Amino acid sequence: MKLIAALAAALLAGCSANEPRYKIAGSADNGRLLLRQYGCGACHRIPGVATADGNVGPPLHQISEQVYLAGVLPNTPANMIHWIRAPQAVDPLTAMPDLAVSEAHALDMAAYLYSLR
Ligand code: HEC
Repeated sequence: MKLIAALAAALLAGCSANEPRYKIAGSADNGRLLLRQYGCGACHRIPGVATADGNVGPPLHQISEQVYLAGVLPNTPANMIHWIRAPQAVDPLTAMPDLAVSEAHALDMAAYLYSLR
């Protein structure tokens, strides 16, 4: 019970404050540019990223509020980075391609995505 209360408190704290849900080490500014360079916007709508108006995958404007990533991974920075780098390792059937994103680049992209609200 205590664990559940602690988890609920952590989730509520993350959702209510006017702060990014996760403060992670990456550069959100660089992440915004990388999201464009890797072509993520061909499939996703991402506010603030030029030409990111695709509808192949889900829009990413509220990803920071989501409980799960791609419906299966708990939404944490480590899982976000894992998903961006190796979506097939999570779900072999997913349409999201492996774009050979480096760990550092995925960290920056995650920093930008978590800054959206
Ligand atoms: C060819 C289309 C395509 C490209 C390019 C693409 N994605 Fe995706 N992405 C998808 C699809 C389809 C899903 C939904 C997967 C699922 O739910 O199984 C997805 C899911 C996601 C999710 C989870 C969304 C959610 O609502 O849970 C994130 C985050 C994400 N993509 C980030 C990226 C990033 C960052 C890039 C660029 C490095 C990228 N995607 C490139 C198609 C794409």
